[in-house]
Amino acid sequence: MIYKIFRPLIFQLDPESAHNLATNFLKYFPRFSSILTCEKNYPNLQNKIFDLDFSSPIGLGAGFDKNCEIALTLQKFGFGFIEVGTVTPKPQIGNEKPRIFRLTKDQALINRLGFNNFGSEIFLQNLLKTKPHFNKILGVNIGKNKDTQDSAVDYLELVSKFYQYADYLTINISSPNTKNLRDLQNEKQLKEFLIAIDNQKKQLQITTNKNTPILLKIAPDLDIKEQQAIAEIVSNSIISGIIISNTTINRDFNLQNQYASELGGLSGKPLFDPANEVLKNFYKFTNGKIPLIGVGGIFNANDAYQKIRFGASLVQIYSAFIFEGFSLVEKIKKDLSELLIKDGFKNIQQAIGIDNL
Ligand SMILES: Cc1cc2nc3c(=O)[nH]c(=O)nc-3n(C[C@H](O)[C@H](O)[C@H](O)COP(=O)(O)O)c2cc1C
Repeated sequence: MIYKIFRPLIFQLDPESAHNLATNFLKYFPRFSSILTCEKNYPNLQNKIFDLDFSSPIGLGAGFDKNCEIALTLQKFGFGFIEVGTVTPKPQIGNEKPRIFRLTKDQALINRLGFNNFGSEIFLQNLLKTKPHFNKILGVNIGKNKDTQDSAVDYLELVSKFYQYADYLTINISSPNTKNLRDLQNEKQLKEFLIAIDNQKKQLQITTNKNTPILLKIAPDLDIKEQQAIAEIVSNSIISGIIISNTTINRDFNLQNQYASELGGLSGKPLFDPANEVLKNFYKFTNGKIPLIGVGGIFNANDAYQKIRFGASLVQIYSAFIFEGFSLVEKIKKDLSELLIKDGFKNIQQAIGIDNL
């Protein structure tokens, strides 16, 4: 309600300034979230995935809190998990502005930020301050610096750096805004890359005595053969789960907004169906054995429920959080809990993949 009143004012600002304003507000007025939201727990939304206890399957997608500055405040909006990052080893300013575009009529965003972030040192300091007070699941999403030639070097460095502290790590090889990044999804490169990650994880498991799940975040723009190849490689690797999906470079959606042809990754409503297609395929290709996190175009409980019924164990939102505001998460939780009851499911687990058998 409050967000609905302020939204026209916030939307007068360009999207990046609006985001920075919101981020700073949450950083300097952390109690704001407690005043605005009354967090509720729904036993039928609780789930254990990757051996981690999720109080709700609704998470915040990567990119909102790139430097792990406001996760403590964000967790109070009702998320079961928050993914911070993408963080790269060295700080990066990202692409030239403007680099985020709001497509209000299409309920979509286009961004070409290019992994702007303060770098892994500052991120680590923020993470160490956050973790002891964080009572949800905290994922760290890692990426490579723009000027790094051998991508694996950056990922291996970051896996080492955050393995001990993160609840889970996400290897982001699907952002469309870093040149050649998505090439890592190619069969040959991915195979070699994941062998290196596997070896490193085995070492880290011994030295830290901890088993941190490592997930892979993929693009929605892969053809069916590429999807099949990735599913097979992941099934034979140490990767614990797949996040489906990042933003799309496809513009074949009859978009209404003047910014529709801006370069970058498109998120929000138009991404819902294409991301669901990939989700369904991966559930089939992996025989439902690898937990999938469904992301892309979720605006309400029905959307979240559909992804779960197609095979997602967890879901994440991003764009809808911008359009609908802070109360959205609790609303989705309440409605999703009711949808499960209505359909006779005792818990989330019973509904996963039910429309994809
Ligand atoms: C402004 C913006 C920045 C993003 N930054 C990242 C990022 O740094 N790393 C990442 O893995 N995904 C990033 N994403 C993608 C989201 O995490 C999510 O996968 C995508 O937006 C689809 O979900 P949605 O339709 O609910 O927005 C970003 C998305 C937006 C809109």
